[in-house]
Amino acid sequence: MSKVPVAVLGATGNIGQRFVSLLQDHPTFEIAALASSERKVGGSLKAFWRLDDVPLAPHVASMELQPLDLGVLRKHDVVAAFSGLPSEIAGDIEMDAARVGVRVFSNASAHRMDPDVPLLVPEVNPNHLRLVERQPAFREGGFVVTNPNCSITGLALPLKPLVDSLDLTDVHVATYQALSGAGYPGVPSLDITANVIPFIEGEEEKMRREAKKILGSLSDGILPSPIDVWANCARVAVRDGHLEAVSIPLKDEIPAGEIAHLLSSFRGEAQVQQLPTAPNQPVIVRAEANRPQPLLDLMAGEPARARGMAATIGRIRVVERVVRFFVLSHNTIRGGAGGSVLNAEFAHRRGYLD
Ligand SMILES: NC(=O)c1ccc[n+]([C@@H]2O[C@H](COP(=O)([O-])OP(=O)(O)OC[C@H]3O[C@@H](n4cnc5c(N)ncnc54)[C@H](OP(=O)(O)O)[C@@H]3O)[C@@H](O)[C@H]2O)c1
Repeated sequence: MSKVPVAVLGATGNIGQRFVSLLQDHPTFEIAALASSERKVGGSLKAFWRLDDVPLAPHVASMELQPLDLGVLRKHDVVAAFSGLPSEIAGDIEMDAARVGVRVFSNASAHRMDPDVPLLVPEVNPNHLRLVERQPAFREGGFVVTNPNCSITGLALPLKPLVDSLDLTDVHVATYQALSGAGYPGVPSLDITANVIPFIEGEEEKMRREAKKILGSLSDGILPSPIDVWANCARVAVRDGHLEAVSIPLKDEIPAGEIAHLLSSFRGEAQVQQLPTAPNQPVIVRAEANRPQPLLDLMAGEPARARGMAATIGRIRVVERVVRFFVLSHNTIRGGAGGSVLNAEFAHRRGYLD
């Protein structure tokens, strides 16, 4: 069976390069076009490649960077587009592409809160995918699916089994967010070297708003979850990986071992369907007192294609009916490109790319 031709929009960026690394040898998708800003059109991705852990495949390295334009998508018979565009650019082009029948899987925030756009994490809210059928573009076969902000994606994975089993109302979280979360070139080195910046514009509000949609229930649209996520977000001098310190008040005293079991035994639809980029175990619990750490646990997830797709939990404690733990997830893989690729694999399995 031939593979599905796809484009990467914003291919030279942090998320775009992760898209390319995950798609260049994908079993279902094949890269048909790479788009960048006008500044780099006509060049090759090889000149801008920054992922020293993943070699760029020769057939992709030799592709010419294309302008961000519907004509390029048509010319290459693109069925699905993966967007790593800045939000202010993504808004129009993603909808325009959907209107001409392209299935768009986006990392940008532009459409995340649109009522008929899924904010999808296949392990958490797989039934939200059906929202695409309400989008006007769906008449042409196109649609937009978004994945959540990188800091809430890593938290949504452990929250799902806890929310399903326990009576929770409030989640308190302090984040230690990596530099790559700010795009390329990101935070000026003089601002972040030997420093922590206790402010990431809009992040705390996004975490609260997006958690309500992801954990919400689907009826006539999404009914927001009553759960409130109260975040304090900070940027730290780490290259990749968002670490988060989580505190959740419980109604009843529950042993830490029981929480650990709920988390490590959690499996979602992505695991049931054995999607290529789904980690066998989406939430990994570590027993060591000093884990998870970005340097050691960033690439958690098996099989090889799912490296960086699992969230790692550590230091689970329950004291006076408050459970506390740390969670680490890869912001440009699980919280970025890998999340979108998993969404596309799920949509493909459900027949939405036919
Ligand atoms: N980084 C993360 O951890 C993360 C996680 C989740 C979601 N996101 C979201 O994902 C998106 C991309 O983030 P990023 O970190 O990859 O940003 P980035 O490194 O700044 O990359 C942005 C990409 O968009 C392209 N671009 C910029 N302006 C353009 C224009 N006018 N026309 C066409 N292309 C243009 C850039 O091309 P040039 O290289 O040619 O400038 C580059 O390929 C953002 O919406 C971000 O909020 C990021």
